[in-house]
Amino acid sequence: MMPMLRLATRDDAQLIAQLSRDRIEQGLGWSWTTLRVLRSIRDRETNVVVALEAGEALGFGIMKYHDDEAHLLLLAVRAERERQGVGTALVDWLERSALIAGVGRVSLETRATNASARAFYQHLGYREIQSLPGYYQGREACVRMARDLWVGRAVPG
Ligand SMILES: CC(C)(COP(=O)(O)OP(=O)(O)OC[C@H]1O[C@@H](n2cnc3c(N)ncnc32)[C@H](O)[C@@H]1OP(=O)(O)O)[C@@H](O)C(=O)NCCC(=O)NCCS
Repeated sequence: MMPMLRLATRDDAQLIAQLSRDRIEQGLGWSWTTLRVLRSIRDRETNVVVALEAGEALGFGIMKYHDDEAHLLLLAVRAERERQGVGTALVDWLERSALIAGVGRVSLETRATNASARAFYQHLGYREIQSLPGYYQGREACVRMARDLWVGRAVPG
């Protein structure tokens, strides 16, 4: 069963922050606090999307839209619901929103040690374009990845 996707509301902020702390920022300190997530939910240039099944949140994604590029800031799926297409559905929703807004390129950073995320994004057509040592608090390297959305994809009708 595919999850339902919708924009996050302020009631989702705490859960998103917890998922970020536990699934993305482990070992780095908690920068995506509930307050910061709330600011993203309120920001008109940012979409925060949640995937739900039977009212339970399975994952979320946060994308910031700039004039000619969108930046995927955060993405996580509950550990027990991985490899069931939830991450793909979240990225697809955010990419479609970017295309509708006229933005044709998405970039993101992920920890260099995060082999799962790198494989996931590669599977979705993202290419590794840069490696930045010390990107996370001067301690950990990131890999910057990007995808041109106009390549190999029909414009949503
Ligand atoms: C990365 C993440 C969002 C992927 O979400 P997901 O719902 O499990 O991904 P999907 O089920 O849509 O995977 C689609 C495809 O990506 C690839 N993929 C996903 N996870 C993978 C892994 N651990 N290893 C290798 N390939 C992987 C596979 O090709 C997969 O298709 P398949 O399951 O049919 O083989 C999820 O693993 C996660 O939340 N990780 C922790 C947080 C994180 O690293 N976020 C990204 C950095 S901000």
